[in-house]
Amino acid sequence: MNILLTGGSGYIGSHAAVVLAQAGHEVVIYDNLSNSRADVLERLGRILGQAPVFVHGDVRDAALLEQTLRHHRIDAVMHFAGLKAVGESVAQPLAYYDNNVIGSQRLLQAMQQCGVRTLVFSSSATVYGEPQYLPIDEDHPTGATNPYGRTKLHIEQMLADLAVSDASWRIACLRYFNPVGAHESGLIGEDPNGIPNNLMPFIAQVAVGRRPQLSVFGDDYDTKDGTGVRDFIHVMDLVEGHLAALNFLGGNAGWHAFNLGAGQGASVLEMVHAFEHASGRKVPYQIVDRRPGDVASTYSKADKAWQALGWRARRGLDEMCASTWRWQQADVKQKKESL
Ligand code: NAD
Ligand code: UFG
Repeated sequence: MNILLTGGSGYIGSHAAVVLAQAGHEVVIYDNLSNSRADVLERLGRILGQAPVFVHGDVRDAALLEQTLRHHRIDAVMHFAGLKAVGESVAQPLAYYDNNVIGSQRLLQAMQQCGVRTLVFSSSATVYGEPQYLPIDEDHPTGATNPYGRTKLHIEQMLADLAVSDASWRIACLRYFNPVGAHESGLIGEDPNGIPNNLMPFIAQVAVGRRPQLSVFGDDYDTKDGTGVRDFIHVMDLVEGHLAALNFLGGNAGWHAFNLGAGQGASVLEMVHAFEHASGRKVPYQIVDRRPGDVASTYSKADKAWQALGWRARRGLDEMCASTWRWQQADVKQKKESL
């Protein structure tokens, strides 16, 4: 199939490009490079033997989208493009509604115009809001606690309405838990701008010596060791879940939501220790106050994806940490070489 990846030069989209191309699909990346760099194309070329086609464009540009969908005879779209920083979304809600919600609406209009009716959407476990029970299954009530989460919820609802209006749509909303890790080559990975908000990139930067220590946000939660518990999922498992969802949509019309998680929780300190083991480096940390808005624990029930898609996460914490470490070291080397 010919598959358009919006946001395909970003962290998750670039890994999806690898898995899809290796499964025999033709991949076209469509990205405005607002949070990624064009050199990821060259790195994808090194992994795949040939770089995917790249279109420099914004998902809010309906005319360019239509042209791209027609020109490349696109059969299906994976929609990764979006802004994703929770704190920034609180400070700049309009930018998030514009980019995420309006961007998705333009994409859907362009798809409708061009007769492309198959979509895999990057949703988030954030649509479940405060966990009411654990593990979280797909029937858990939804309700976001910040503008970023609300954009994901609005888009999911827009997609559900669309599927009701026209039975030929095939839509999968994939609710990611905590994606971490990198491709085994160390050539692509997560490269946050500035100080990382998320745990894994922060730990990696401490291990490599870019930051002196990790702040652990609270050790008095009602969890196994008092620190927060999350459902970390290896990015390669995550993108294999996208391929499984695409195959599922081939035989199933309508709107479908799936959790993509490992189905178990690991604590912040377990992650620190796993990273120390994988890297052979010490990760100094200090316990500080809880981060406002954090919950103690969240993790998925991943049975629906297993039953319907035949997919489940296979890689463990060691592989998540080892691949992050390989990427972090290579990334530091590449940055030094480009100075
Ligand atoms: P990322 O920022 O690395 O990738 C997103 C890509 O989209 C970037 O390359 C960016 O340049 C591009 N982009 C943004 N706005 C665009 C626009 N208007 N037009 C075209 N391109 C645009 O983020 P990621 O971690 O790869 O996340 C991908 C998707 O998965 C996002 O929708 C995100 O909300 C969702 N998600 C991510 C996580 C996570 O922890 N990484 C968790 C849950 C959901
Ligand atoms: N943490 C620290 N120190 C840090 C960073 C994080 O102790 O420097 C802790 C947090 O308190 C939390 C855990 O590590 O207990 C994980 O935090 P992350 O920021 O890595 O991930 P979150 O689960 O808070 O948030 C992620 C995404 C959000 C998304 C949410 C639910 O970043 O966008 O998952 O899917 F909304």
